[in-house]
Amino acid sequence: MHQELFCNLNITDYPLIHQDLPIKTRVMNTTVDEVSKSIHDLLFGIGIKVDSPGWLYCSPEYITHNCHIDGDFYNHNSNWTSLCKLNYVIGGPNVTTCWYDVPDNVHTSAKKNFTSTGFPYWVFKISDCNLIESQIMSGWHLFDAGVPHNIVNHKSEQRWNLTIILKDIETGEWLTFVEVKHRMSLIGLC
Ligand SMILES: [Fe+2]
Repeated sequence: MHQELFCNLNITDYPLIHQDLPIKTRVMNTTVDEVSKSIHDLLFGIGIKVDSPGWLYCSPEYITHNCHIDGDFYNHNSNWTSLCKLNYVIGGPNVTTCWYDVPDNVHTSAKKNFTSTGFPYWVFKISDCNLIESQIMSGWHLFDAGVPHNIVNHKSEQRWNLTIILKDIETGEWLTFVEVKHRMSLIGLC
């Protein structure tokens, strides 16, 4: 049994979408206003601040994204950040999110890259990745972006993902999946 990798949330609010949805660039920053006011308030109550929200667009032509982790090294002993993302997914009813195990020695050969908005991520060779979980995601959920993962578009669908990093209000540090899930469970969000 491996660790939990995602968690659907008991949030009924929609994000406030200021742009028309057919945003068709791969990565696009947005503003914190786009996340609904009541979600801001809920998160504030558990010491969490919204950071770096952006839309990720998956076009019908896109088949498989690189297997990667989001963020950066936590330290130099091959531990990763286990960065938590708060996501809201629209469309892509058959698009799956896949998580993978990679051998420890492969971590040192992962390649660092940056999104067009300057956010770091590390890419693994798919031949080094062993599938451990595959899920169709929709609506609001937490997502462990510190485990190697990718998106697989089986049926040429469009998909939009509002993706948000969560920081501790006091320290300004990125929060891990385990920490966010713990705090959200205290107020019944997951
Ligand atoms: Fe990712």
